[in-house]
Amino acid sequence: MKKWYDEAIIYQIYPKSFQDSNNDGIGDLQGIKQRIPYLKRLGINTVWLNPVFVSPQVDNGYDVANYFAIDEKMGTMADMEDLISALHQNGIRIIMDFVLNHTSDQHPWFKDAIANPKSIYRDYYLFAGENGHRPNNWGSFFGGSVWEPDPKTGQFYFHLFDKHMPDLNWKNPGVRKAMLDIAEFWLKKGIDGLRLDAFIHIAKADFRQNYPAPEGQIPVAEPFFANLPEVVHYLRPFCQQIKQDYPDCLLLGEAASANVNLAATYTDPENNLLDAAITFRCFTEDDSHLDSAIPAAYQVKPFDFEAFKLTQMVWEQTLAGISMPVLYWSNHDMSRLRTRIAKNDMQAKSLAMLLYLERGIPIIYYGEELGLTNLAFKHLADFKDQTVFDFAKEAEKEGYSEAEILKMVSKTHKMPARGVMPWQRVENYGFSKHRPWLTGEKQDDHFAEAEIADSESFFNFYRQLIALKKTPLFMEGSYYLHPTSNKSFIYQRDLGDESALVVVNLTDKPLKVKTRYQKVILSNGQYSLTDNELQLAPFAGLVLERD
Ligand code: NOJ
Repeated sequence: MKKWYDEAIIYQIYPKSFQDSNNDGIGDLQGIKQRIPYLKRLGINTVWLNPVFVSPQVDNGYDVANYFAIDEKMGTMADMEDLISALHQNGIRIIMDFVLNHTSDQHPWFKDAIANPKSIYRDYYLFAGENGHRPNNWGSFFGGSVWEPDPKTGQFYFHLFDKHMPDLNWKNPGVRKAMLDIAEFWLKKGIDGLRLDAFIHIAKADFRQNYPAPEGQIPVAEPFFANLPEVVHYLRPFCQQIKQDYPDCLLLGEAASANVNLAATYTDPENNLLDAAITFRCFTEDDSHLDSAIPAAYQVKPFDFEAFKLTQMVWEQTLAGISMPVLYWSNHDMSRLRTRIAKNDMQAKSLAMLLYLERGIPIIYYGEELGLTNLAFKHLADFKDQTVFDFAKEAEKEGYSEAEILKMVSKTHKMPARGVMPWQRVENYGFSKHRPWLTGEKQDDHFAEAEIADSESFFNFYRQLIALKKTPLFMEGSYYLHPTSNKSFIYQRDLGDESALVVVNLTDKPLKVKTRYQKVILSNGQYSLTDNELQLAPFAGLVLERD
């Protein structure tokens, strides 16, 4: 049976950076409400909000201290209820981020677990080790060990992300019940779905095992804490209960390292788990030109379109008949499309055309529709990230200047991709009357107001693209990728008698393609079309229908 989310076109809003209504420099819920006309104009039908719960903001809201209240910097519960109803009145659904793998160390459960080693909340988390000896050598995603000392007991607690974000113990039925209650609390408020943050990590392997690595190293031990079989066992009752109570709820899982077969397992309706999964595996980079003397982490890497083509083909083919692939170019965890991949505005638009017209659910990261690039940060400290400091140390040793390092990391890091929305070409961009919370120099000349007024703009291209995506052919049609050279990306969508061809020139040279498709329904860049030949300008893209 068709569900609303099979036709979702999601717009990801990073609430701190979208619109500030009370002029404290931090975006908020009332601000988002004010911008609903903009969202309607763009044509999206679903909004995903990054976390807005009470949080010390160590990880910008992914460190939750109270799941039942809104962070005061972003508003109140009344604002949230108001936003949900205003979006609904405007025909827009809303999904919220749901952080279920960890809490903040300021969450009352954790505070109690630390204050009272005999507390029932001790077992809500993962304490292990003794006499000041860490249980193993596993490294965390945010740098350093996953183990942080609990000085009172000589034990350690486990954290996959920042040390202020202790992982929950999903083996404990109390944790499972509590997380379900939180999810249902929000669904009862009328939200339409949940994005399950980092759910693939809720099960961990036996802590006695070290990850094979030279003495003294702290390797990120993914096989011991990603996609373990117990994930499914913990998740199924959670998902089943939610679907029983809220059958229309979209369960969208963030499965960063899941390969296509796991994604199929997580989203196969037969398995009673999720509806769709977000993978990071689609982003194929060319590592062959890196400086081997320094870590790969923040070096600029060209995008590998050939590998990408194969990945797209495999994901589309494997998930056909199972679930909707999730189609996105950027999010808050990575550098922006226009900085990371697209060489110019023309290519960025063609890449949007290429991806979002495939079979699947597009997620557009706020500002992508304006062609925004990453900010440039002026100081390494602005990144507030241990892994950046570690990288800079290595790079300095190899003779890189601070300016070179800053340039590299500004292009590759997630923080400069979280800049505030530039609504107008005025001080603070119409985002706020206050200096924005995230500073950094804007590197592009795109502003919403000007783009809305310009029929040739990025924004208006996205509008047309979204309108086309909403037609049955692009929502429901089958997908077939043509086996062409690495110069082009060409696929076909078919539904009944209808058929369309999406043709994108991946290169900076003109492209010639033989085709019988003659009716242009969307174009980006110059082209010429004769009886059976199409010529496309560098990086241009075209959507054609059969006549
Ligand atoms: C994934 C989120 O997208 C990311 O921003 C966050 O840091 C981690 N999960 C931890 O919650």
